[in-house]
Amino acid sequence: MKKTRVAVFASGNGTNLQAIIDANIPSAEIVLVFSNNPDAYALERAAKHGIPTEVLDHKSFSSRDDYDREILRLIEPYEVGLIALAGYMRILSPLFVRAYKNRIINIHPALLPSFPGINAARQALESGVKYTGVTIHFVDEGVDTGPIILQSVVHVHDDDTEDSLLERIHVEEHKIYPEAIELVTEGKVRIEGRRVLKTS
Ligand code: GRF
Repeated sequence: MKKTRVAVFASGNGTNLQAIIDANIPSAEIVLVFSNNPDAYALERAAKHGIPTEVLDHKSFSSRDDYDREILRLIEPYEVGLIALAGYMRILSPLFVRAYKNRIINIHPALLPSFPGINAARQALESGVKYTGVTIHFVDEGVDTGPIILQSVVHVHDDDTEDSLLERIHVEEHKIYPEAIELVTEGKVRIEGRRVLKTS
């Protein structure tokens, strides 16, 4: 099977990157790990697996557009077919999203459209919901608003802290992110308006 060339963008620890690497998805080859953060542990994880890395510190750019244009230039030689954001803590500019239209996916630690943005587990706890979860979605020009590929539910316990809840959210994340990447790279889903439907 022809593998899709995948770039993973990560700013921090990279446990989702690790899960994607460990899943050995037959239809995907991770050809690049990109980070805005030179100290991201995700970069070390990539290096350990012999995956090329690129880093571009956003602090040295005065505008988001200039920064994103530079990333586009930097990643072009990798001929990437899919970008998987995995804890990438930067909002992508519309120009970047357009350049990779329907070829960028993201993981969010809540059941979107509830609790978009940062601190999603804390938002869930503070709101009193009994269930939260994980969403994998295509990235559009909004923040955490694109068509949803997969979701998984996590029960909120009475004695949960933000950390304990996040821990169970991570377990689900590590299961469904590789699954979603497999679906997308095997061409098993199509976008129809706001919905992502399985192709037969
Ligand atoms: C995950 O919770 C993901 O949902 C969010 O950022 C976190 C990244 O964790 N977007 P890790 O770096 O993959 O461990």
